[in-house]
Amino acid sequence: MAEIDSITIDEMYTSRHLEVADRAQYRSFEPRRSSMLYELVDDLDIGPGDLVLDIGGRDASHSLALASLFGCDAVSVDPVASNNEQARAAVAEHPLGSKVSIRSGMMEEIPAADGEFDFIFSRDMFFHVVDADRALAEARRVLKPGGHLLLYQTFATDRLEPLERAELYAGLVVAPERMSPDDFQKRASAAGLVIESTDVIGSEWREAWEEDGEGLTSRQLLYAARLIRKSEQLRAELGDADYRVELANALWGVYQMIGKLEPRIFLLRNPAVSDQDNP
Ligand SMILES: C[S@@+](CC[C@H](N)C(=O)[O-])C[C@H]1O[C@@H](n2cnc3c(N)ncnc32)[C@H](O)[C@@H]1O
Repeated sequence: MAEIDSITIDEMYTSRHLEVADRAQYRSFEPRRSSMLYELVDDLDIGPGDLVLDIGGRDASHSLALASLFGCDAVSVDPVASNNEQARAAVAEHPLGSKVSIRSGMMEEIPAADGEFDFIFSRDMFFHVVDADRALAEARRVLKPGGHLLLYQTFATDRLEPLERAELYAGLVVAPERMSPDDFQKRASAAGLVIESTDVIGSEWREAWEEDGEGLTSRQLLYAARLIRKSEQLRAELGDADYRVELANALWGVYQMIGKLEPRIFLLRNPAVSDQDNP
């Protein structure tokens, strides 16, 4: 256990900063909103005529949003059959559905031609990737020279304790190595991708969801409490696998909020031939 100096009993009970603490508790520190991810896409001038790969696109909701917001075409690639069925249904119902197509596949073997995409959008999926070197090489292969890969991903911090880590990773099928931002940066560079920026989001989106009244993480905290207190009953009702996913998913949100997990955004570029000549 880490040794941490204790404050004194007097310091604990003789609080001189109650007013400051009270104000800090109810004060917003202006967290950024999750819509910033689309603002970053906008900054890259993605628009009509561009083809976007939404890797790990699940139900294609982000592919459809990208097509609606920017007028681009999008391809959602996901390895899970039921996700792709849901995606096809969503696309069929959407007024801009003809701009989105669904392909079955994974990042380690992207079903696409060399240089097919102007831009790759990777949101909250890289933690599942087992062979990161292969996945990053594939991303580079299917990306046009000069094209960008925008990756939003959660990483672990030192605050995540070993038992918490083990349960979380087992419940959400996390490849443990993917949770290190240093490992990610090393592998992205080794794949020949240029890291243009890295931005620590931490708890900001979740603070904003609380401040805006959406309350996702409060609900997840309450849900985690119920799942833990009524574990026997809820495990029997949900089945073991679903119980573990539900608990890990709820804790994923809570841990992001309290700094055990730390989302970040990386902007990577596939260097153009001219960049390679003049590094
Ligand atoms: C947490 S969901 C995120 C979905 C969506 N990108 C979003 O942000 O809402 C992760 C997705 O990655 C997909 N996935 C898992 N392993 C993958 C892999 N090796 N390559 C591509 N996608 C993968 C899953 O099927 C799932 O749809």
